[in-house]
Amino acid sequence: MRRPLLVANWKMNKNRAEARAWAEALVNDLGPDPAAELVVAPPFTALETLSTALSGSAVQVAAQNVASAAAGAYTGEISVPMLAEIGCRYCIVGHSERRALFSESDQVVSAKAAALLEAGLRPIVCVGESEAERKGGQTAEIVGRQLETSLPAMETPAAGDLVVAYEPIWAIGTGVTATPGQAQEVHEFLREGLRKIMGAGAEQVRVLYGGSVNPENIESLMAQPDIDGALIGGASLEPESFRQIVANCHLENSSS
Ligand code: PGA
Repeated sequence: MRRPLLVANWKMNKNRAEARAWAEALVNDLGPDPAAELVVAPPFTALETLSTALSGSAVQVAAQNVASAAAGAYTGEISVPMLAEIGCRYCIVGHSERRALFSESDQVVSAKAAALLEAGLRPIVCVGESEAERKGGQTAEIVGRQLETSLPAMETPAAGDLVVAYEPIWAIGTGVTATPGQAQEVHEFLREGLRKIMGAGAEQVRVLYGGSVNPENIESLMAQPDIDGALIGGASLEPESFRQIVANCHLENSSS
C-alpha cells in the first residue's frame, strides 16, 4: 500500500520567524495521527529552523532544489550531504519553475534525483505539460518523455523512495486545477510508464498531483486510484489552510 503524501512547497516565501510561527500553529492544530505523511519544503535559509521546530512532530522537511555534485567549485549550490546534515528527508527536483526559469534539463533533473537516492534521500521528481502542449494533444508525449529521461538511471531504483509529481503548468498558481478525471488520466499513464521502466517497483512509487490544490478540491483528487498525494504551493502558506487540506484527505473512504 502506498502511504499518502502531502508536500507543502513554499517556493521563495517566508523568513525564519515566519517559518517558526507556521510550524507552531500547524503542530498545535494537527492532532496526533494525521492520515497522510506530511512534508514541508521551505527556502534553504529556513530549513534548519523548521527542522528544529518540527522535530518530534509528524511533519518532515524537504528542500526545493539540490546540486548533483557532492562538493567542490560550484558557487551558489547546495549539496545532498548538506541537506542530509540538517535533517532533510525529501527534495523536490525539476519543478517546472526550475525547468523554465533556470534552464534545468531532464538530464540535470535525473542527475539530481540519482544523487539523492544514492544518499538515501527521497527525490520528488516533477513533470507536467504547458497549456499549449495540452491543447496540442501532446500531454502524453511530453510527460512520458520527462518521466523516462528525468528518472535516474539506477540499476535497482529504490522505488519506495521515489516520488513523482504531476504538475500541469497551466494549473500552477492559476486557481485552475485539473479536474480529478484529467489528473487521473495522466496519473494512470505515468503509473503505466513507471511499470515499463521499473516493473513491479512501480506500485511503490507515489505519484502526487500539484497545481492549485486547496482544501475544497483535495478530497476529490485523492479519491482517484492513481493519485497518492499532493504538492501544494499557495494553499500551503497559511497553516490553517494546509491543516484543512490534511483534514480533508479522507483516505479510508477514498479508495472505495
Ligand atoms: P500551487 O503550486 O499550489 O500554488 O498551484 C503548486 C506547485 O507549484 O508546486
